[in-house]
Amino acid sequence: MQALPEFRFTSDLRTGIQAIDRQHVEWFQALETLRKAVAAGRGERTVAQALAFAVSYTQRHFGDEEAAMAKAGYAGLAEHRALHAQLAARLAELTAQHGNDFDCAQEVLTLMGGWIREHIAGSDKLYVPALAKG
Ligand SMILES: [Fe+2]
Ligand SMILES: [Fe+2]
Repeated sequence: MQALPEFRFTSDLRTGIQAIDRQHVEWFQALETLRKAVAAGRGERTVAQALAFAVSYTQRHFGDEEAAMAKAGYAGLAEHRALHAQLAARLAELTAQHGNDFDCAQEVLTLMGGWIREHIAGSDKLYVPALAKG
């Protein structure tokens, strides 16, 4: 089993929009809790709970972020929503593929490890001017 890198929110990922930054920090924390549960070989139930929380937090964050973009009349909303939908679909696929929460958690962490930083730095940052005005 390969070691999964730590999930740590770093200041370069700040958008300056408080509600968003707070969720991004909590999102990293949820993934880090899951990573630690897997790395420590914690019980199935602990991993299952951490996995469910991380996945539901992802969905909640996407919903809140999309609502904020819509409220601000952000022109890139449809494109951004599609990126969220793509990731949500991949998460749903992984959950459906693995009956075992431990294997599923590994795959989710591997997927999110590459995705989360790239998405915040590359896509979330683009809406900042539009949202900061509102
Ligand atoms: Fe986003
Ligand atoms: Fe985000």
